[in-house]
Amino acid sequence: MVRIVNSINYFMNPFDNLSDSKKNLRNLIFEEIDNGCLKSVSENYVFPEKGFIVSSLNKKWKLVLDILDYELNGKIILDLGCGCNSGNVESSRYPNEYEPWFSRFVHNTCDKTGLKIYGVDVGDLSGENFPFLRVNLLKENCLIDYFSKNYFDLVLAFKLFNSPELEFRVTGNNYLNATRNSAEKLKENILPQLEQIVKHNGIFCCIGGDLCF
Ligand SMILES: C[S@@+](CC[C@H](N)C(=O)[O-])C[C@H]1O[C@@H](n2cnc3c(N)ncnc32)[C@H](O)[C@@H]1O
Repeated sequence: MVRIVNSINYFMNPFDNLSDSKKNLRNLIFEEIDNGCLKSVSENYVFPEKGFIVSSLNKKWKLVLDILDYELNGKIILDLGCGCNSGNVESSRYPNEYEPWFSRFVHNTCDKTGLKIYGVDVGDLSGENFPFLRVNLLKENCLIDYFSKNYFDLVLAFKLFNSPELEFRVTGNNYLNATRNSAEKLKENILPQLEQIVKHNGIFCCIGGDLCF
């Protein structure tokens, strides 16, 4: 059974109660972010809104650390709607903002954390270093056709369920964030599949558009 956490029922533990080893891991990760991980994930790339991306990476990391209780080594994450470089509504509407920053960062720091990440998106991911699957998540069996059973410890869906691209895929409208109806369609297609590819007691963490859960 997959456990579902979302922004409604999930609250992060404060950092001050952490043991020293957890604090060290946390510091290591946040130093990587501050020390220009963005440069290393996208060399020679001048990013106009670096501040925004860094703060979003920080928030995602806090959540992941907390959910996995700082036990990262050997864990496998699936990042659904991970972001992409082109080929979706977001990339034309918000250039650079929804590139796969989190998957890139996790992959680029995997020698330090022991975490493995797979990204999934319907947009173009060619040229990325992390393992990825380009697929429409509304397609039947899209995940179980590709991933092994009981494989993932944690599945993330950051801003997937309210994505403008999702609305476009469901209704053809390319000017709205996903409505509840579109989010429900996505949920119906992927939840039963997640039950198969996520380990027993694994976690599905959905942030943004999560009112359908
Ligand atoms: C708002 S972006 C969020 C990107 C990233 N998760 C983040 O937090 O920055 C939503 C992503 O979900 C992807 N997406 C939306 N509907 C999808 C679908 N049906 N199948 C696969 N990817 C989808 C979009 O292409 C887009 O990259």
